[in-house]
Amino acid sequence: EEFIAVVPAAGVGSRMAADRPKQYLHIAGKTILEHTVDRLLSLTEITRVVIAISADDPYFPLLPLATDPRIIVVDGGAERADSVFAGLAAIENDNAWVLVHDAARPCVRQADLRALITAAISSDCGAILATPVRDTMKRGLHHSTPPQISHTVDRDNLWHALTPQMFRVGLLRQSLTSALAQGATITDEASALEFCGYTPLLVTGRSDNLKVTQPEDLALAEFYLQLLLK
Ligand code: CTP
Ligand code: MG
Repeated sequence: EEFIAVVPAAGVGSRMAADRPKQYLHIAGKTILEHTVDRLLSLTEITRVVIAISADDPYFPLLPLATDPRIIVVDGGAERADSVFAGLAAIENDNAWVLVHDAARPCVRQADLRALITAAISSDCGAILATPVRDTMKRGLHHSTPPQISHTVDRDNLWHALTPQMFRVGLLRQSLTSALAQGATITDEASALEFCGYTPLLVTGRSDNLKVTQPEDLALAEFYLQLLLK
């Protein structure tokens, strides 16, 4: 079997509102993107990492990653799904397994990557890391200012979708193509498969595999990284 990672890294990080896209902020000694790629390549099974970056990205070429023979760089797109699609286009082997992993998730642990791979290769259509929702969930009243509660959403069997999300390249490409063509809202890879009627597995992962999104996430991610790098 062949295992390839696709890392969407073409976002601008508007919620982080830093002086550069968040994947290029430094924590624990290097950029978030470098930590993320290191985590993926720490598994010997993963032999290549395709990184989708924005076409006018001045930061990536400065990283040692830019000349690493295991790295393939592609131009990303307007939405995350477009960036993932561009990454898939660089993979010829439809039968390979792809692990799609956000550049902004540098804290993923080897044990979770291994659990995902084990689950996916024996599944019907693939698997994603996910973690059970622990807070009580509220749906807001539509169009109310200030926001008001409409009702409580049943938390039973409700999950946070994390990454990586792992599928056969051909199946993911086919699912993304048909979901995007039919105008489905695709915020992760699994949603494209769901749209096509597949039921990927949920593999319980650690909740410290956070997506660095807002300024307050930086200190937390750095803390988790220091723990796992010890
Ligand atoms: N991403 C991408 N291409 C896009 C948009 C996002 O490759 N057109 C990537 C981001 O770089 C990130 C991952 O998808 O690694 C998850 O997206 P998100 O956390 O939303 O990052 P941004 O879109 O950069 O942040 P924001 O939504 O706050 O602008
Ligand atoms: Mg975004």
